[in-house]
Amino acid sequence: MVWMFSVLCSLAIMGISGIVPLDGTPLASDEPPGFLLLWTRYSAHLAFFFLLAAFLASTARRRWRHPATRVLMSYRRQLGLGFATAHAFHLAALTLFLLNLEGFSATASLAVAAFGYVVTTALAVTSNNWSVRRLGVNQWRLLHTTGINILMLYFFVAFGAAFIQKGDTVYAVYVFAIIGAVVAKVSARETRLQRATE
Ligand code: HEM
Repeated sequence: MVWMFSVLCSLAIMGISGIVPLDGTPLASDEPPGFLLLWTRYSAHLAFFFLLAAFLASTARRRWRHPATRVLMSYRRQLGLGFATAHAFHLAALTLFLLNLEGFSATASLAVAAFGYVVTTALAVTSNNWSVRRLGVNQWRLLHTTGINILMLYFFVAFGAAFIQKGDTVYAVYVFAIIGAVVAKVSARETRLQRATE
């Protein structure tokens, strides 16, 4: 269900990116941004919301024993797959954008960014009970904790860089949301460890 919601949102984002550009802006335009660049940007923002929700689900559940956090927790795997889906749309959009970009050439930073997709794929294909059994709970948890932290770091760097370049408030909000989410997770874990040793 959440996965389908991610597909629908991704299609909506694609549609919005087609409507927003000014009249006559070529599809692959870089400045002003055309359809492909806006689609690349907006699809990344959508993917971020799914990732953040998956990242925060267990922390929210530990802090608030509310039915809403129970629902969030029970959909955590689907939220992760929702992220992978939305991020696949980012890949499609950026591929089309870069293929049409004059003078584009692969650099080392492209390889670093592409590694984010290796991580995303590893998490997506192991998001099932069979993989938990096959890897063992501890290995599986290590893979998923490390992977989701790496992806959060990627978004932190991407939004941080966008904020430095463009100065838009929305990027600062995203950066603070990531910092807040990490602080909340670490403090929830410390509280749990403290309780366990008492
Ligand atoms: C885990 C991997 C990735 C993450 C987390 C990520 C994240 C993001 C984010 C957050 C944005 C929006 C920035 C903005 O609003 O200005 C973005 C835009 C973009 N990304 Fe990705 N991305 C990833 C992989 C890649 C890869 C492999 C490429 C290929 C080169 C790429 C190319 C782009 C491009 C061209 C844009 C538009 C930049 C602009 O606005 O000028 N991304 N990405």
